[in-house]
Amino acid sequence: MATSSLLTLFSLFLVLPPYLAADPDQLQDICVADLNSDVKLNGFACKPAAKVTEVDFFFKGLATAGATNNTMGSLVTAANVEKIPGLNTLGVSLSRVDYAPGGLNPPHTHPRATEVVFVLDGTLDVGFITTANKLIAKTITKGEVFVFPRGLVHFQKNNGAVPAAVIAAFNSQLPGTQSIAVALFAASPPVPDHVLARAFQIGSKEVEKIKSRLAPGK
Ligand code: GLV
Ligand code: MN
Repeated sequence: MATSSLLTLFSLFLVLPPYLAADPDQLQDICVADLNSDVKLNGFACKPAAKVTEVDFFFKGLATAGATNNTMGSLVTAANVEKIPGLNTLGVSLSRVDYAPGGLNPPHTHPRATEVVFVLDGTLDVGFITTANKLIAKTITKGEVFVFPRGLVHFQKNNGAVPAAVIAAFNSQLPGTQSIAVALFAASPPVPDHVLARAFQIGSKEVEKIKSRLAPGK
């Protein structure tokens, strides 16, 4: 390769964000999100420094257990940039997940973050699936930690007789969550039945049944 091509390649590596990075690094001390700004960029526009207060960096929503009396028996409470504007550009966020006995946080992925969970209470069967379709699973209990690598499908199930809870940390201010069953069977507009029937090797009646069970509000 000619020297000039090598130089071009090298300068590209200097200007492009690192291939494996999560959120980009911040370029100033703080950039508190102006959640109401019309300016659209990779993140949120910064609110004027004179208007920044401690409230922008505070959230008490993870202090109490979320209500788990729903179909899945679990509830995720996010503490991301949408709740804590001071997280804008900082590349981190948290969630709390509560699980009723038997509760499931169903298979989902985070396109922008690796997740690390710390068990606050109870015992959970957790797992993720690699792109080679290998299931990496473990039972984890109070005080223990487990990692779900970025983008991989994962879940947690409380097979215990008492409630469980975790704090989840993410290397993104807004990790994004795509719940597999809901994404496929409750998208709007809907994914065509024939696509799902072929992909899952089932009949269209079964597809319709799953769609009706996962319909919003069900
Ligand atoms: C748990 O997997 C979560 O995404 O909060
Ligand atoms: Mn997750």
